[in-house]
Amino acid sequence: MAERVYETLHQLETEALQELDAITDEKTLDEWRVRYLGRKGKATLAVRRLKELPPEERPAYGKAVNALKERLLAALEAKQEALKAQALAAELQVEAFDPTLPGRQPSLGRYHPSNLVLREIIDIFRQMGFQVLFSPEVETDDYNFGLLNIPPGHPARDMWDTFYTTREGVLLRTHTSPGQIWAMRQFAPEPIRVILPGKCYRYEQVTARSEMMFHQVEGLAVGKHITFADLKGTVVNFIRQLFGPERQLRFRCSHFPFTEPSVEVDMDCILCQGKGCRVCKYTGWLEIMGAGMVHPVVLRNGGYDPEEVTGFAFGMGPERIAMLRYGIDDIRYFFSNDIRFLQQFG
Ligand code: PHE
Repeated sequence: MAERVYETLHQLETEALQELDAITDEKTLDEWRVRYLGRKGKATLAVRRLKELPPEERPAYGKAVNALKERLLAALEAKQEALKAQALAAELQVEAFDPTLPGRQPSLGRYHPSNLVLREIIDIFRQMGFQVLFSPEVETDDYNFGLLNIPPGHPARDMWDTFYTTREGVLLRTHTSPGQIWAMRQFAPEPIRVILPGKCYRYEQVTARSEMMFHQVEGLAVGKHITFADLKGTVVNFIRQLFGPERQLRFRCSHFPFTEPSVEVDMDCILCQGKGCRVCKYTGWLEIMGAGMVHPVVLRNGGYDPEEVTGFAFGMGPERIAMLRYGIDDIRYFFSNDIRFLQQFG
């Protein structure tokens, strides 16, 4: 009697393990679990055959059934692990994943060439005691022209044609010179030494040499006894720090309504050392900035007394400087966002 009961238990185990062995997917595996180990599973129900045994043999049989269930459970878990490992192996096969490959480099941003040069310019002037100010890109006609001694109808306005907004008298600034007025009005009657970097806009045909948007750096010093010699010293010091101590400069007479006298500053060509080449158009000289002594009318508009103080001002284009510095022959590269261009700097 007892033998037969144990025999059935043994058969049950053999059968269960054989079936388990043949299973290759999780769904069938789960069905197997329900069939043997579920609440009404064959192994679970096997305990009922206790009744067929004499009372003293029942505890031993109960233990045997529990041991069987534990073995089946262990076999089930082992099978689950095996299936998982198989699935992973299959997936790896398909994706050909190589865990030894190096990770992808995150792409890092870098400074735009205009910004690189702006930073150099700012560093040099800061070291000479200039503070850095910013003034609006959207300006009034007054700040861009009138207060700079360029009244309506003045022919100089043609040189600085710009974009007008739909609001009367509001425009995009054509130069950073209106920043002179902002700076003076902020600090008058105190002496000042400031530079004002920023974007400017012009209504112009876009060519290799001119963009409709570009940067300028304005410089302004106002105080007692400031002379043209101070302007020269400052500019010479600046250019030699930026382009090297051997640079030669020349100050050529020019005209700006907001400075008097006015000059254009040229530097000997860094490419041909002044001998003449394509870049300097065979003159040996490169134009670097406009400058001059601040016009008395402009000083007064800024809140200073031109009988008491004098000042100098200059304005330059960092893109032009970057073009010379890096040998770039077309200004349109700066703002066309071509990553192949931008990646070469910084
Ligand atoms: N604002 C002038 C320009 O854009 C440059 C300049 C600035 C000249 C300051 C003299 C003094 O051409």
